[in-house]
Amino acid sequence: MIKTTVKIEKFLQHKTPCLVLFCPESKKLAGDLKQVDQALNGPVASAFKEKRFEGKSNQTLLLNARGTMKADNVLLVGIGKPKEVTDENLRQAAGTASNLAEASQFKKITFYLADGELEKALTKDKNLASGDVVRAVVEGSHLALYHFDTYKSVEKGEEPNRIEEITLLSDSKSALPKFKQASDRATKIAEGVYRARDLISEPSNTATPSYLANTAKKIAAKHKITCKILNEKEMLKLGMGSLLGVAKGSHQPPRFIILEYKGGKKNEAPIAIVGKAVTFDTGGISLKPPANMDEMKMDMSGGAVTIGTLQTVAALKLPINVVGLIPSVENMPGGSAIKPGDILTSMSGKTIEVLNTDAEGRLILADALSYAARFKPRAVIDLATLTGAVIMALGHFAAGVLGTDDNLIDNLKASGALTGERLWQLPLWDEHDKATKSDIADLKNIASPGVGAGTTMGAAFLRPFAGDQPWAHLDIAGTSWGAKKPYTPKGASGFGVRLLVNFLEQEAKRRK
Ligand code: BES
Ligand code: ZN
Ligand code: ZN
Repeated sequence: MIKTTVKIEKFLQHKTPCLVLFCPESKKLAGDLKQVDQALNGPVASAFKEKRFEGKSNQTLLLNARGTMKADNVLLVGIGKPKEVTDENLRQAAGTASNLAEASQFKKITFYLADGELEKALTKDKNLASGDVVRAVVEGSHLALYHFDTYKSVEKGEEPNRIEEITLLSDSKSALPKFKQASDRATKIAEGVYRARDLISEPSNTATPSYLANTAKKIAAKHKITCKILNEKEMLKLGMGSLLGVAKGSHQPPRFIILEYKGGKKNEAPIAIVGKAVTFDTGGISLKPPANMDEMKMDMSGGAVTIGTLQTVAALKLPINVVGLIPSVENMPGGSAIKPGDILTSMSGKTIEVLNTDAEGRLILADALSYAARFKPRAVIDLATLTGAVIMALGHFAAGVLGTDDNLIDNLKASGALTGERLWQLPLWDEHDKATKSDIADLKNIASPGVGAGTTMGAAFLRPFAGDQPWAHLDIAGTSWGAKKPYTPKGASGFGVRLLVNFLEQEAKRRK
């Protein structure tokens, strides 16, 4: 992680190549911004006047200080109308500033967060506590500065510029402990997101089910997490015919990863998180079209996010019990692959007619949801890149959420709103359930042509396996990859880690 420090100093005295100030959209320059403008001889006021910079969300103005203050450059970044500013505006603004600073060849960046005016303006009449301001900024900056560059060779002297240090600056000593705590927490969360992004970005010739299992083991050993891996034989014994059916077309053996974090009371029922981890989805025999098929290395995002979440929950020592379950397979059209029309018997005993081998996520999740019952969980939340249909419905802007318990769904949606990882609920009606019935088996894995409602049909298929406790299904096919935000680079977003960590944190509080 990029080194992050807190410094207490007057901002005109602070030496840095790039001093970032957050600027609200308003008619008049006030407070710190006015001071900076005066120090620099008025370039901010004239930018406002000429409408080159007005403090609109993610607008930037980079000014050379020309020796008028200790900082070499001042970077103003807009956060929008003061009354409307949320954590997400700050996260994005911090991301925008970080990206511009890195592209401008700076090696260090300082965010000035007065313990005064800006904070007061932002925290007044809002749920934004002052610690949240620091958290949002540190999160946004770390997340924007993520790079997956394992495989890129660089010639000597041609290394791309990287920010090496983030400083949080305040002018009041009393801010120090609060700033440190908030920054530490945000860094741990960003580490969890980095973990998920690393795993998702890793190509499928490296990131196989065994690789995921070994990585999970290593992470568990570093934190207070136990990790158990089930191999093919053990899964066969458990009767996981649905999961094993998908695995049959590949030379890569499947793995079932079980992570347990016990931060809560000994006998307290855990929250189970189940993450789809198809390390590559060719579609099997009902093969996918070739365009952008490379992106299907991301079909293990649910599993990666589960690992990133457990790592973060353990790093933050949250007082709650959490189980992570990750069914992992590669969906290939090998000689032993399942074929359309084949019938599989799942761990629950229910039989499934496979009408399209590309609807494989629900097949592995069916057995994973059955297995979750062993932990007698308080609630089960699954995350899966399950359907292309969710991208049709919501684009890359929100994940779909469906389930059996409105209270659970509402709490998840609230965490989504706070973290900027938005959820949008879709219905799950009896009519959908009916459309999952097969003529010759208990269920079929796709609905008849013309039924539509692709994302709901995925959830409707899962419902009979999900048990009686509250259950929510998050379809992250759109949000996991290709989301365009200042703090999410091209490719993997790690969507879900921040949402789930927030949810689990709130859940621990609700239970007190
Ligand atoms: N992994 C895909 C879903 C997906 C699509 C993820 C696009 C990310 C981006 C899933 O296994 C799949 O193939 N779903 C099918 C289901 C269909 C056959 C009912 C789909 O969405 O087309
Ligand atoms: Zn598929
Ligand atoms: Zn898939």
